[in-house]
Amino acid sequence: MKLPEELQFIENARLPQKTTQARMDGKLCVLTGATSGVGYQAARRLAQGGAGLVLVCRNPFKATQVQAELQHACGNQVDVLQADLSKLDEVRTVAAMLLEKYRQIDVLINSAGLHNTHRNLTEQGFETVFCVNHLAPFLLTRMLQDRMVASAPSRILQVNSQGHRFGGLNLTDLTWQRRRYRGLQGYGASKVAQLLTVWELAERLQGTGVTINAMHPGEVRTNIGMNNGPVYRFYKRYLIGWMLKDPVISGEAIYYLVAAPEMAEVSGRFFNLTIDEKPAKHALDRELGKRVWMISEQATGLA
Ligand SMILES: NC(=O)c1ccc[n+]([C@@H]2O[C@H](COP(=O)([O-])OP(=O)(O)OC[C@H]3O[C@@H](n4cnc5c(N)ncnc54)[C@H](OP(=O)(O)O)[C@@H]3O)[C@@H](O)[C@H]2O)c1
Repeated sequence: MKLPEELQFIENARLPQKTTQARMDGKLCVLTGATSGVGYQAARRLAQGGAGLVLVCRNPFKATQVQAELQHACGNQVDVLQADLSKLDEVRTVAAMLLEKYRQIDVLINSAGLHNTHRNLTEQGFETVFCVNHLAPFLLTRMLQDRMVASAPSRILQVNSQGHRFGGLNLTDLTWQRRRYRGLQGYGASKVAQLLTVWELAERLQGTGVTINAMHPGEVRTNIGMNNGPVYRFYKRYLIGWMLKDPVISGEAIYYLVAAPEMAEVSGRFFNLTIDEKPAKHALDRELGKRVWMISEQATGLA
């Protein structure tokens, strides 16, 4: 029995995944969130594939451990830069450092992200999940955009989520002052906003040799959500933990999307791991996307 279109993602998750043997020697990849879970597995796979890496991480201790491990295992260039993505000033600073230090940026992967069960605001007054999952990668991407055009062919990948299907994006209440905060919807709002800006940027990048796509990295066993209280941690560890897969599959899928020759000109798409998939209808609303773009530019100081 064929599932209705909006549930097709369930079927897609069971399909065989694509892989590539293509090498990435001589390519420089900038990666956020490489100290844990999906980003860590992506960094490992990229290092195995020969890529040079710049890890943008908030915790220097964890980052230098990953750096040492990858350098030891693969002998590649692995640099570390520090930035807390809940602070847009730090995102701006790290983007400036990247532009200063690296003439060529071939791949940008924004993997860092979080899920909060309770409403929490950043020092600047943004809802934290919206800031880390959407505003920070938006700002980093936009600040590196010209360098990536100069480095073309190059690829940008936003690690998004099926969580975008939860919705929750209300442009008149991004800080959840007038609504009761619900973790899944707060998370969904950040991922919808990101998808809507992926379509916008893909259009702007047409003809430049730079592609931008978004992906869901599978339902995998990582630390996401473990910053929440004991009830959530219990739920995650003991009630759903057994259903989650090894995040090695996420690293492999990310590698395919940024390395496979057949992906070189694919842009403006959403992938369930490596399967090209139609996102939820509300994440395809291009009028809403234009408003999200404007609001994101204003919030990040790009306007
Ligand atoms: N796990 C899943 O099943 C799943 C499903 C769908 C989508 N995703 C997406 O996959 C991405 C990675 O998540 P994950 O599952 O790998 O979770 P994770 O294991 O918790 O890793 C999250 C990464 O983001 C970093 N990070 C969090 N807040 C940050 C901040 N303020 N500044 C800088 N870095 C920050 C973390 O750094 P620290 O190591 O310092 O904490 C860590 O490296 C996210 O975008 C998430 O939405 C995951």
